[in-house]
Amino acid sequence: MDLFEYQARDMFEKHGVPVLPGIVADTPAEVRAAAEKLGGVTVVKAQVKTGGRGKAGGVKVAKTPDDAEAAGEAILGLDIKGHTVHRVMVAAGADIAEEFYFSVLLDRANRSYLALCSYEGGMEIEQLAEERPEALARIEIDPIAGIDLEKAREIARAANFPDELIEKVAPVFVTLYEVFDKEDTTLVEVNPLVLTGGGDIIALDGKVTLDENAAFRQPHHAELEDAAASDPLEAKAKEHDLNYVKLDGEVGVIGNGAGLVMSTLDVVAYAGENHGGVKPANFLDIGGGASAEVMAAGLDVILGDPQVKSVFVNVFGGITACDAVANGIVKALEILGDTATKPLVVRLDGNNVDEGRRILGDANHPLVTIASSMDEGADKAAELAAK
Ligand SMILES: Nc1ncnc2c1ncn2[C@@H]1O[C@H](COP(=O)(O)OP(=O)(O)OP(=O)(O)O)[C@@H](O)[C@H]1O
Ligand SMILES: [Mg+2]
Repeated sequence: MDLFEYQARDMFEKHGVPVLPGIVADTPAEVRAAAEKLGGVTVVKAQVKTGGRGKAGGVKVAKTPDDAEAAGEAILGLDIKGHTVHRVMVAAGADIAEEFYFSVLLDRANRSYLALCSYEGGMEIEQLAEERPEALARIEIDPIAGIDLEKAREIARAANFPDELIEKVAPVFVTLYEVFDKEDTTLVEVNPLVLTGGGDIIALDGKVTLDENAAFRQPHHAELEDAAASDPLEAKAKEHDLNYVKLDGEVGVIGNGAGLVMSTLDVVAYAGENHGGVKPANFLDIGGGASAEVMAAGLDVILGDPQVKSVFVNVFGGITACDAVANGIVKALEILGDTATKPLVVRLDGNNVDEGRRILGDANHPLVTIASSMDEGADKAAELAAK
């Protein structure tokens, strides 16, 4: 699970990573009060679980509480890559001299940890990695040894930090690794890590991904999942134990099994190229038992996303046969009634497919189109989304 920036900030603070004061606010009035409390220049920052907030207008500098309130008004409710901003963090303004990049992550391919670091921060890291890979140091971290001061110096040197800064940043890398390790995370990323005019190193932004497999030994992580604070659609999905990830496009996708859903995303994106570049709107795996309730919950989540224009249900009948899935879809549409308003393309295959198609055919629901293959279904759904 990804944390919001303010949650990452709190976690950093708890472990001794240098951060600036920050106060969360859900209304422009609260933003003003927070800015008054912090005093001086503040930065109002959208709290959404996606990158590129600054470019999307989700990070604004405010000189006065008036400015901050106006920034709060502009940012709250803003849509950033399909994520609505419900909360902002009002952070103390930093006097930035230089911006750097640091992250440590689980490197699954190498069954190891990996530290990424650059003396040239500020820029989007994906862009830096592509355009100037030599500016981004990649240092493998032995999970047993971790990052001690010596390893941290090695990382800073590899990232081309000048000598006088190495002793300043190295202890911060050690502390950030402590967060990574002690909190059982799979990612700790700071972009930017800054040097202030006063010569301090501060983490100005933080991204943390928790390893949910370790939840049993991190009981305090449960409160970070606080449904009210997270995206309402993600909260709803979580309530029903659905594996849901919001994406940026227009075609809602439901499938059973992570592998099938992943390939469905690819096929929809590919088909979308012929229909004005429409893209998948989400990942949603309803798992093995595609009962009516699970299907209704899945559809309810997806149809609740205003960006979704059509839905592609792609199910391969296995232990749960296609007729049960078809009944699930028909009942789900009954349960949803008038709230279901967007066209649905359904592709069924596998166990009892003929009976499944018959049930859908007989139900003859005006919103449902039956597709005979995955490619055909993706193309139809993309076409409907582009209308
Ligand atoms: N507290 C602050 N004081 C001064 N400047 C800030 C502060 N927080 C952020 N900034 C400036 O805003 C820029 C963008 O902030 P931040 O990195 O938090 O968001 P982002 O990079 O747009 O979002 P994301 O990391 O989600 O892509 C930073 O690079 C920094 O220059
Ligand atoms: Mg950032």
